[in-house]
Amino acid sequence: MYSHVSGTGMYLPERALTNNELAKIVNTSDEWIRTRTGIEVRHIAAENEATSHLAEKAAYSALEASGLGPKDIDMVVVGTCTPDLILPNVACLLQERMGMTGIAFSVEAACSGFIYALTIADQFIRLGQAKCALVVGAETMSRLLDWGDRETCVLFGDGAGAVILEAAENPGILFSDLGADGKHRDLLCADAGVSSLKVGETAKLHMKGNEVFKVAVRTLEAMVDKVLLENGLEQGQIDWFVPHQANVRIIEATAKRLGLPMERVILTIKEHGNTSAASIPMALDTAVRDGRIKRGDLLLMEAFGAGFTWGSCLLRY
Ligand code: UT7
Repeated sequence: MYSHVSGTGMYLPERALTNNELAKIVNTSDEWIRTRTGIEVRHIAAENEATSHLAEKAAYSALEASGLGPKDIDMVVVGTCTPDLILPNVACLLQERMGMTGIAFSVEAACSGFIYALTIADQFIRLGQAKCALVVGAETMSRLLDWGDRETCVLFGDGAGAVILEAAENPGILFSDLGADGKHRDLLCADAGVSSLKVGETAKLHMKGNEVFKVAVRTLEAMVDKVLLENGLEQGQIDWFVPHQANVRIIEATAKRLGLPMERVILTIKEHGNTSAASIPMALDTAVRDGRIKRGDLLLMEAFGAGFTWGSCLLRY
């Protein structure tokens, strides 16, 4: 048994925050942000919108696209590093609100959270332990930001993306590869928590951007080489590259390694910013709905994030 994606959905909060607005808060400029990152605008969740609310809207949209209802779902996996609560997990909150049953948990792998969640759901379906999974990447990164730190607050945004992953005779997911290396933990972190010494402090995200950039490019390029080699593919044979949207310069370097022109790369960073685990399913849904990605196309999704964690997934859509 294999798994295939039968529907996609996304949700972007209404409030758009432009580079020019940010330039009024911190010492930055539209020009710096656009040229260094590719971002023009990001969206910010309303005060009464938590991660699970964004996830719920994306989930209903994916269910509608797949022609299924909440009762058909027997597994919910949510990739997020900005959960509503410490517990219950976001997947359980979604289950309760949408009337779903079965397995439900969240995966904490920062920007790689969706690829981790998708890979886990695929394994459950391959083993026959689930038939129809709702897989979500959802984040309210705005809640983690220090709005006085220009090196991070200009980069991130909020949003959610979802896919329905159903059991199928043919793949679907052809290959996935996950990795992590905890030795880089301090380069990108939000260092407060429940059991750490900083209990009760509000977590704020810190990043040594330049150092993260170098490791990200190296790691993503190595992943590309592995995907092509292990699947007997030549450069240029992927139809669509659907990357994590952290920086357009990182994406361009990876696309080059794949032998793909930028016309075959799904870029949403300009309108979404970096939405961490939500960025890949949001990019996927964007390109499915605007007609670029069609049934039968070969897609490569790749992510890299805090931890460091990383992952790739080759999908016949
Ligand atoms: O999604 C999870 C993984 N995250 C990533 O993969 C992100 C990886 N890193 C990056 O995308 C980039 O490193 C950044 C976009 C974060 C930064 O770009 P950069 O080209 O690496 O810039 P930099 O950190 O080397 O900084 C260059 C200059 C510095 O000034 P000096 O020292 O040259 O005078 C910074 O202080 O830009 C300055 N700078 C800013 N200037 C205006 C840093 N942030 C800003 C800002 N506005 N917002």
